[in-house]
Amino acid sequence: MARITAVSHPLIQHHMTHLRSRDTPAAEFRRRIQSLSILLAYEATHDLTTHPVVVETPLTTSSGAALNQRIGLIPILRAGLGMVDPILDLIPSAEVWHLGLYRDETTATPVRYYSKIPADEPVDVAFVLDPMLATGGSAVAALSTLADWGVTDLRLLSIIAAPEGIENVQAQFPSTSVSVCAIDECLNDRKFIVPGLGDAGDRIFNTEQPDDSDD
Ligand code: PRP
Repeated sequence: MARITAVSHPLIQHHMTHLRSRDTPAAEFRRRIQSLSILLAYEATHDLTTHPVVVETPLTTSSGAALNQRIGLIPILRAGLGMVDPILDLIPSAEVWHLGLYRDETTATPVRYYSKIPADEPVDVAFVLDPMLATGGSAVAALSTLADWGVTDLRLLSIIAAPEGIENVQAQFPSTSVSVCAIDECLNDRKFIVPGLGDAGDRIFNTEQPDDSDD
């Protein structure tokens, strides 16, 4: 079965609380997403492989280690973009391959509008980045694209997830590891995560419309 890790840490709880608040403005929301992405990536990369290297310090030589896999970050546009820079800071050698999906408002199914995924020479490890795992339709579409590319080590990083989305990914990609900061209660009738944090893409890019509120 897919490995689901709900990362439990006081810093995650702290940032999640601010992220959820409807009073958190876009600039702060982006910073919280970045902080949570770092904490999530720290956990999700714990088993990346390395090879030994020798480094010259100012005083002598020392044994070190260097990452030895091709690592891909695959942000699902738009909201996944908010997770790229902080993780790229952690893994500067990572490749970034963009995938554009939006969720049809009526059917809640993903619609692809952009793909930069190449046809061959897959990365060794692919991290799909999307703050929200709701029905899981977008994540499954992204993972399918990466599986078609030939990636065998697929990992999904989401800030917040609904049980329905986790079940969907588990059912269709049983060997994919999924790391999240929070697993919420359910989806509402509009397929929004409850209690959730609203629409991450709109909140990151400050495009939230007044009538987007559930009130
Ligand atoms: C949101 C979110 C995920 C998707 C999750 O994107 O960022 O990509 O919906 O829903 P799912 O698990 O049911 O597929 P949205 O369609 O709002 O696009 P955006 O990132 O451009 O705002």
